[in-house]
Amino acid sequence: MPLEKINPTTTDAWKKLEKHYRETKDHHLKDLFKNDPDRAKRFSRQWQDFFVDFSKNRITDTTLETLFQLAKEVKLKDAIGKYFEGDIINETEGRAVLHTALRAGESEEILVDKENVVPEVYEVREHIRKFSDAVISGKLKGFTGKAFTDVVNIGIGGSDLGPVMVTEALKFYKNHLKTHFVSNIDGDHVEEILKEINPETTLFVIVSKTFTTQETLTNALTIKKWFLESASPKEIAKHFAAVSTNTEKIEEFGIASENVFPMWDWVGGRFSLWSAVGLSIALALGPDRFEELLEGAREMDEHFRTADFHDNIPVLLGLLSIWYNNFYGAETEAIIPYTQYLSRFSAYFQQGIMESNGKSTARDGSQISYQTGTIIWGEPGTNAQHAFFQLIHQGTKLIPADFIGYKTSLYGNTDHHQKLMANFFAQTEALMNGKNAEEVRAELEEKGLSDSEINKLLPFKLFDGNKPTNTLLIEKLSPRSLGALIAMYEHKIFVQGIIWNIFSYDQWGVELGKQLAATTLRDITSSEISSHDASTTQLLQNFKK
Ligand code: F6P
Repeated sequence: MPLEKINPTTTDAWKKLEKHYRETKDHHLKDLFKNDPDRAKRFSRQWQDFFVDFSKNRITDTTLETLFQLAKEVKLKDAIGKYFEGDIINETEGRAVLHTALRAGESEEILVDKENVVPEVYEVREHIRKFSDAVISGKLKGFTGKAFTDVVNIGIGGSDLGPVMVTEALKFYKNHLKTHFVSNIDGDHVEEILKEINPETTLFVIVSKTFTTQETLTNALTIKKWFLESASPKEIAKHFAAVSTNTEKIEEFGIASENVFPMWDWVGGRFSLWSAVGLSIALALGPDRFEELLEGAREMDEHFRTADFHDNIPVLLGLLSIWYNNFYGAETEAIIPYTQYLSRFSAYFQQGIMESNGKSTARDGSQISYQTGTIIWGEPGTNAQHAFFQLIHQGTKLIPADFIGYKTSLYGNTDHHQKLMANFFAQTEALMNGKNAEEVRAELEEKGLSDSEINKLLPFKLFDGNKPTNTLLIEKLSPRSLGALIAMYEHKIFVQGIIWNIFSYDQWGVELGKQLAATTLRDITSSEISSHDASTTQLLQNFKK
């Protein structure tokens, strides 16, 4: 069954939320806490080893209840069922959206075109296990009989960002294989990697769902050429593996059938790290840890599918984000992990969130008249504090932020970890409380400043506070907890897409760029420049001079 096409602004809840916003927008979080001793407890949830505190949000019980009403009116529960059951919810491409099937239990039955896809998912998982075990153990060898030392993942977008982010995030658990990622069509990117590797001991994994992406094919051909300077064509079979839905093109490239890993069109690129797209994750961490990552995601899927909305973390986070985006007019959201391991996490979800929900056409084809698609950004704390936190604290924009922190330091460096986490807690507190004139005055008086000096400095030292944050405190960064965390944001994307009445799983905006680049390349490589606007023609002429 297709998704319902309900304009959220026509619901009763939306109108109530507009009114409620006008009535409550000037409330200060500090007062909300002062008047409600139970607030922190009531607005936080424990799920497994995740403690989610959303009490530092500009909400009351009425806000939450009305947001739940909105979820009900747009039939979110029913949509979740369709998502997990493989209904064609990616309508513009005529596809199901089943990255959840990639981490489903082996006994589950998930039908696509009346066929249970779970057995083939497990077949591929077994293939990933055997292949990565053989590479890691050294059983599979390169063309001169040496074991592999390096793995190069060649892919872009969803065929790159997930493996990059996860291998970096779980670096602590890594084995001896060194992983590299080539994505950009910028030739300098590939050249820098070629400098670091030896053709005799490097395995190349070409990841492209379509096997037609210009960047990936260009990089793969450049690498193949480089490889053939040292080895004969028959050795390609030993050194190249491919992940794709396009088996014909893989064969043309010369990849041995035992090194081919299928993908399915019901898995979107930006949700594909759970499939064989995650092969370089399995190679870097070993197949057991890759399976643990999937297991964590499966547990979050179960939670999202079954938990009451009042306790459902992706639903709560999705609704809170709607509250700021559509009623407060907040355009961006920051994701600030307090661990260096998650340095690529916000970049990963820039694609996940912005490619999915950056849409302005409603599911019935009409133009949307409200905001969708939050802009996502962020860097790890504490570095972020010394970079852009000034704007969050004292700028003119409202920037809701997710703070993600871990109770345990992986190397057990208590001194560093306590300092790191002191910053983590202090920041959300400061963002909420701000600093008023009385506090600033007292502080400056203590420093011995005169009255006139204080009056001059005071306005610059004021912080309004009242800045909303969610705090996610997780026991430990592990493959399992990371899997659950990624799945949590994936489902938040779904919740928002349903409420905004858009199709979250296509990306026509990106496709346009791909088409135009092809025409422009012809203009660069031929003597003629076809019809462009005056600015582009001038730039092309200048480039070709
Ligand atoms: O960025 C757009 C996109 O289509 C993504 O959805 C996809 O992950 C990426 O390009 C790469 O595509 P492919 O895996 O087919 O090479």
